[in-house]
Amino acid sequence: MIDPSTIERILDSANISDVVSEFVTLKKRGVNQLGLCPFHNEKTPSFTVSPAKGIFKCFGCGKGGNSVNFIMELEQLSYPDALRWLAKKFHIEIEEKEESQEEKLLKDERESMMIVSAFAQKYFSRFLLKENEGRTIGLSYLRERGIRDDIITKFELGYCPDGKDLFTQAATREGYKMDFLEKTGLTIKRDDWIRDRFGGRVIFPVHNVAGRVIAFGGRTLTNDKKVAKYLNSPESEIYHKGRTLYGIYQAKRDITKLDKCYLVEGYTDVLSFHQAGIENVVASSGTSLTIDQIRLIRRFSPNITIVYDGDDAGIKASLRGIDMVLEEGINVKVLPLPRGEDPDSFARSMSAGELTEYIKKNETDFIKFKTQLLMGTVENDPVSKAKLINEIVRSISVIPDTITRTIYIKECSRLMDVQEAVLYSEIRKIQNKQSEDHTRKELQEIQTQAAKPAATPAEKKTANPFETEEREIIRVLLKYFNHEVFEMEDEETNEVSTYTVGVYVISELHNDGLTSVNPKVTAILAAMEENLYNKDFDPIRFFTLHPDSEISQYASNLLADKYIESKRWSKGGAFIESERELLYLLVPKLIQEYKSKKVKMMLKKLEQQINEASKNNETEKLMEYMGQHMKLKEVLKELSVLLGFRTIS
Ligand code: CTP
Ligand code: MN
Repeated sequence: MIDPSTIERILDSANISDVVSEFVTLKKRGVNQLGLCPFHNEKTPSFTVSPAKGIFKCFGCGKGGNSVNFIMELEQLSYPDALRWLAKKFHIEIEEKEESQEEKLLKDERESMMIVSAFAQKYFSRFLLKENEGRTIGLSYLRERGIRDDIITKFELGYCPDGKDLFTQAATREGYKMDFLEKTGLTIKRDDWIRDRFGGRVIFPVHNVAGRVIAFGGRTLTNDKKVAKYLNSPESEIYHKGRTLYGIYQAKRDITKLDKCYLVEGYTDVLSFHQAGIENVVASSGTSLTIDQIRLIRRFSPNITIVYDGDDAGIKASLRGIDMVLEEGINVKVLPLPRGEDPDSFARSMSAGELTEYIKKNETDFIKFKTQLLMGTVENDPVSKAKLINEIVRSISVIPDTITRTIYIKECSRLMDVQEAVLYSEIRKIQNKQSEDHTRKELQEIQTQAAKPAATPAEKKTANPFETEEREIIRVLLKYFNHEVFEMEDEETNEVSTYTVGVYVISELHNDGLTSVNPKVTAILAAMEENLYNKDFDPIRFFTLHPDSEISQYASNLLADKYIESKRWSKGGAFIESERELLYLLVPKLIQEYKSKKVKMMLKKLEQQINEASKNNETEKLMEYMGQHMKLKEVLKELSVLLGFRTIS
């Protein structure tokens, strides 16, 4: 449990821009900041941060909220864990009560797996640096490879002792459960034996974007060809190989700052680049590059340079990577390495300055790369040349941006000595074919959809017919709760008192016993009612920082909605007066509309009941319904004329 005053301090320090820019590159847009949404895939930014309001909002996917909501969503953390995350980032000491056994059990599985992984990382690091076996075997191996101590620390490298289950024993002694040791793959358990997965290996911890350890790679120190060079953690709740990039945590700041990311293949490649002072580098770790990995990079920068091994496999992987990256609207370059070199060996073979110089000279765009690569074999063979052109055109055709495509076509035309028009017509052919395929696929989908049985009533969400009205009422309450805009004269004393928007709206709703089917709206209104006369009550702060993340999201979303305001008060596109000046009109009108709609719904229902009753000859019921109907009709008439403290139920 985190104590309330600590929560308060965390929320005060957790500046939304600082928090978001850990993950998203933000650019200034007036008073707001704009970037690519980390929650859905997009190419043009619709993710907005309002530093003044302390909230974010994506106008593409609709997600929004405060700093805590952002971290909860992005890191998939619970509310208290998101607070802990923020506390760590803003260097706030957390006063925490000792966890009870029950609370320990309640922690979800993912969290437990991350906790055991964090323990393992610390254990392996300590073993590497402090224990005799670690130092003589693990550390001396790393030193022999020329890996500096600061890099060992930065990447939290380690060593797992070479014994059957020394690590597992240590972990269980410390109270870590076998269940999670197994689920993270740190321990391999069969019916009759238990052993450490990584025994005798040098350990490369894999961090997620937020810096938590989610997996490990372990390198063998033997040259035995029968032993796998690297062993990796298995796929698990917390580790999806295809969605992870080795080094992203250590690289993200520089990727953003330099607006560029180097993509290499292996653990040691990342290390050596860092060692040479190039820190905007990540590795796909031996798997072939996935779309999710590309999108992860794009959260920080749209510029990638592929640096794969200088062998046939590396070249093939680069070619495959190029098309995937292009398709995601990313600018891709390639840095070819001399045959037989990988980024690690190459970087270590020269000084940091020489490496930077080499990169500057040899980085090529993908067309040059493909051309240079294949031209040698093509030479004067027209058939091969045509094939190569086709190959390049295919790559160009997947680029989503027209201008970029045009530039590449120009370059290709020059390099390959073909007319641009020819290239354009080739591209059109490919695109037509693609769109045909696309249409066919869509048709198939529609047909399979149609074949499915219709959704059962239980699957349909209960709709709230008053959603729009309630949103608008809550929005106005949030913004103007303490504004005194209403006056009322006491009939006896003739004294005039003023009322806040809060008092006016809450009592109007309360008097009529109006309730919402939306539990969030009900909870917000209840909290407002409790604080009606509390002068220090700041509803924006109270609700956007509310511990119930659904409520804080609801509130933040409302405050981010600019359009409602303008829609209501603009005529022919121009503002008449500011919303604030018109509150005395706007607020009663909102309440009136809300009530009228409710009454109309009730009338409709009564009409149905009247029909039923008359069909069944239930005279008594019929009379009662008709009486109610008449009363409601009156209310409706009144509502359209004046507004006051009346009842409708
Ligand atoms: N890899 C793996 N399993 C293997 C071999 C490789 O997971 N059996 C992954 C590792 O992430 C490795 C990357 O593929 O870092 C690249 O492989 P490779 O080039 O063979 O290894 P290096 O990174 O060059 O490692 P080293 O320099 O230690 O040989
Ligand atoms: Mn290597």
